[in-house]
Amino acid sequence: MINEKMEKAFLDQINKELFSEYLYLSMKAYFLNLNLVGFANWMDVQVQEEHAHAMGMFDYVVERGGCVTLEAIEKPESCWNSPLDAFRAVLEHEKYVTSRINALMDVAEEEKDRAALIFLNWYLKEQVEEEANVGGVIAQLEMIGDDKSGLFALDKELATRTFVAPVIG
Ligand code: FEO
Repeated sequence: MINEKMEKAFLDQINKELFSEYLYLSMKAYFLNLNLVGFANWMDVQVQEEHAHAMGMFDYVVERGGCVTLEAIEKPESCWNSPLDAFRAVLEHEKYVTSRINALMDVAEEEKDRAALIFLNWYLKEQVEEEANVGGVIAQLEMIGDDKSGLFALDKELATRTFVAPVIG
């Protein structure tokens, strides 16, 4: 059975994962407006991943006998100066999410909730992967600079990203 403190910490994180989904949906719209459909596809996969992250925690709280109460989701930004600017914002956001997962693990340690710690290990590893993926796109965008043909080549590459439902926990 999950205790009250742990439950609250998970519910906060579910809200943050749902905000991440919302933020990347907003970025998908931004890229569609620029006619960069590959970038939009990359964001669409991100949207699905974040939804899966939120639902993984949702299911976990229910499985541990907790109660899920949902809070309002913050309004995301809708405008960025360039694809690079948007991806830098993704990296900053993912670093923030990593810090929140670490904080959640701190609570699990304080509460001696080992099951939660084991469950959260998956999220921590996922954050390492996410930051590395985003960092890779940023490095490519920095190399491309103002070269439009480079941007379109990257757009084609990002169009190939597909969503694979994660096995969480
Ligand atoms: Fe659910 Fe991108 O962290």
